[in-house]
Amino acid sequence: MKMKLFKSLSLAAALGLLASCAKLPENEIRIGEFGSMTGLTSTFGTATHEGIQLAVDEVNAAGGINGKLVKLVSEDDRGKPEEAATVVEKLITRDHVHALLGEVASSNSLAAAPIAQRHKIPMISPSSTNPKVTAQGDYIFRVCFIDPFQGKVMAKFASETLHAKTAAILRDKSSDYSVGLADVFAREFSGMGGKILIDQAYQSKDVDFKSQLTTIRQKKPDVLFVPGYYSEVGLIAKQARDGGLQAPLLGGDGWESPELYAIGGKAIEGSYFSNHCAPDAKIKQVMDFAEKHRAKYKKEPGALTVLGYDAAGVLFDAIRHAPSLKGPDLRAAIAATKDYQGVSGAISLDADRNAVKSAVVLKVHHGRAEFVATVNP
Ligand code: PHE
Repeated sequence: MKMKLFKSLSLAAALGLLASCAKLPENEIRIGEFGSMTGLTSTFGTATHEGIQLAVDEVNAAGGINGKLVKLVSEDDRGKPEEAATVVEKLITRDHVHALLGEVASSNSLAAAPIAQRHKIPMISPSSTNPKVTAQGDYIFRVCFIDPFQGKVMAKFASETLHAKTAAILRDKSSDYSVGLADVFAREFSGMGGKILIDQAYQSKDVDFKSQLTTIRQKKPDVLFVPGYYSEVGLIAKQARDGGLQAPLLGGDGWESPELYAIGGKAIEGSYFSNHCAPDAKIKQVMDFAEKHRAKYKKEPGALTVLGYDAAGVLFDAIRHAPSLKGPDLRAAIAATKDYQGVSGAISLDADRNAVKSAVVLKVHHGRAEFVATVNP
């Protein structure tokens, strides 16, 4: 019995070894995608995947890149940093991907980036905005703006457009994104002459925010800045209104999800957030993309889908120009990205491997996000 088990185990090990030694197909480009396909931020991963898949289908339908077809390997990290690190290690060592696309949430990108860097496999985040992400190393890129800009946009909007003199902050202390964005908002709003009356915290997965909201209501702020992700923000909006706090809520791109309106309902109406692009913008490339997206998925695309598509587009463009698929060659080609015409705007990567792009301010109205303003860097 024991012998038999041992035998089958060693057979499995031998087969595994054989498989990993087997020659990898040379005529394919392997792209690893990692994201939260399930969990508390599941719409981040699934929406991004729609954009990436669309880009892969298009490029393959056109014959691939330099004669090679693109093979997409997608992994679910369930929105957890530890899982992001595990699946990225797997994508590199088991699947031998040439490049990585992901993640959305900054904490997950931060957990994965050092692994990509160590293996010299380029990683492009479509939408992580915390500055530390690309600072992990020269193989780490992003195709979106960063939070020092986004936080300033919302501080300026609060101060100049809403004429807010005072603000309260309710931050997710378990999220690098939320903490970074809250700090920028506080600094910028104060610099513009505003006053931060109170700065409260919660943690991802919390469902009861009543005690923080009671403390905040007593301070009577003109606006409440909540730089969190949609699941908690929806609940916070509800509990704020139930508790009699009427000030508009302000937030960042982490609000982006159809679930925000499903969870927040009436309570989130009249609030504002910054984002990467406006779904209702009358911009030709956005309208063309929406049409393609509608044909494939029978629904409207959001900003995350657009950024997933653009991240893949930037990568494909670099692959087209790189002398080989080797990490250092790909890295150099991505770093040279200049004026790539994305759906979310023109993308040029700066010396810190970040894109410099404009932001939009959106207002929640009738259960969707309406375009209010574009802010240039
Ligand atoms: N910018 C967020 C982060 O870094 C992620 C995000 C981007 C969420 C765009 C929604 C839309 O954590």
